[in-house]
Amino acid sequence: MPIEESPTEVILTHPEDSSTKVKILKYGATVFSWELKGEEQLWLSTAAKLDGSKPVRGGIPLVFPVFGKNHDDEHLSKLPQHGLARNSVWEFLGQTKAEPLTVQFGLGPEFANPELTKLWPFEYSLILSVELGKEYLKTEIEVLNTSNTETLKFNWLFHTYLKIHDIEDTLVSNLNSSKLYDQMLKESYVDKQPVVTVHEELDRIYQNVEEDRLIQVVDKGHPVHTLKRHNLPDTVVWNPWIEKSKGMGDFEPKDGYKTMICIEPGHVHDFVKLPPGEKWVASQVLYKDELKFQSV
Ligand code: BG6
Repeated sequence: MPIEESPTEVILTHPEDSSTKVKILKYGATVFSWELKGEEQLWLSTAAKLDGSKPVRGGIPLVFPVFGKNHDDEHLSKLPQHGLARNSVWEFLGQTKAEPLTVQFGLGPEFANPELTKLWPFEYSLILSVELGKEYLKTEIEVLNTSNTETLKFNWLFHTYLKIHDIEDTLVSNLNSSKLYDQMLKESYVDKQPVVTVHEELDRIYQNVEEDRLIQVVDKGHPVHTLKRHNLPDTVVWNPWIEKSKGMGDFEPKDGYKTMICIEPGHVHDFVKLPPGEKWVASQVLYKDELKFQSV
């Protein structure tokens, strides 16, 4: 069966290769596992809650309508960190394509977490498409402003937790020369380093990274993940390191920071301002590619 649905999750298995599959929790429409040819590609905490009691620590949580904690906007500032999509149960809309195997999930104010909807009373319709290719995983989001009168102001981000072998042997390429906001230093600057390496807690928002730059996670010279983006100008790179991991109750094992890195394509430096009746579409594709240093 290429698609299995239970009350809480949906599993897609590639029709030509049963060792390639993706698992999606209806809570948050969170992809929490992607096995490519039998090898898990995403990091998931062993203490992650998969019962809908809190957002999933790992996989690909969806961040909407606000990234981080907002302190300025009248409505968005009332929402918790990273918004309401990752803590709402999405509706499974079923299969939309057989080749490549694609399913969709939907969310609007009628299904979203009612407590949070009260705090952010806007009209919208979200459709998440999950496409399982033989060699890739694509997640695409469509945001429709269903209001006749009001502009929809939002951030979007795919909070992708990638599994790696060892953070000390890992680098992230093709972000060099981009302007970034360093959330640790609370400062903006241009990254002059040729590659990103991690030796302490790192939390950076790279801004306006050209779309043709492929972001690669490289382990001892070998690219282990390649990420392609569409309509997502910003990229957050995050690793909590030792102290921050200790403070997160659902982050296990405690040295799990050594085997994960978050590469999070989004539109977060500023807000998308979507006029009434209009649609906004963005996507990320995860796959394997050869090493491509695009500008050093
Ligand atoms: C990242 C942010 O996207 O998410 C970090 O840049 C944050 O600042 C991290 O700590 C995890 O957030 P949360 O809400 O899932 O603990």
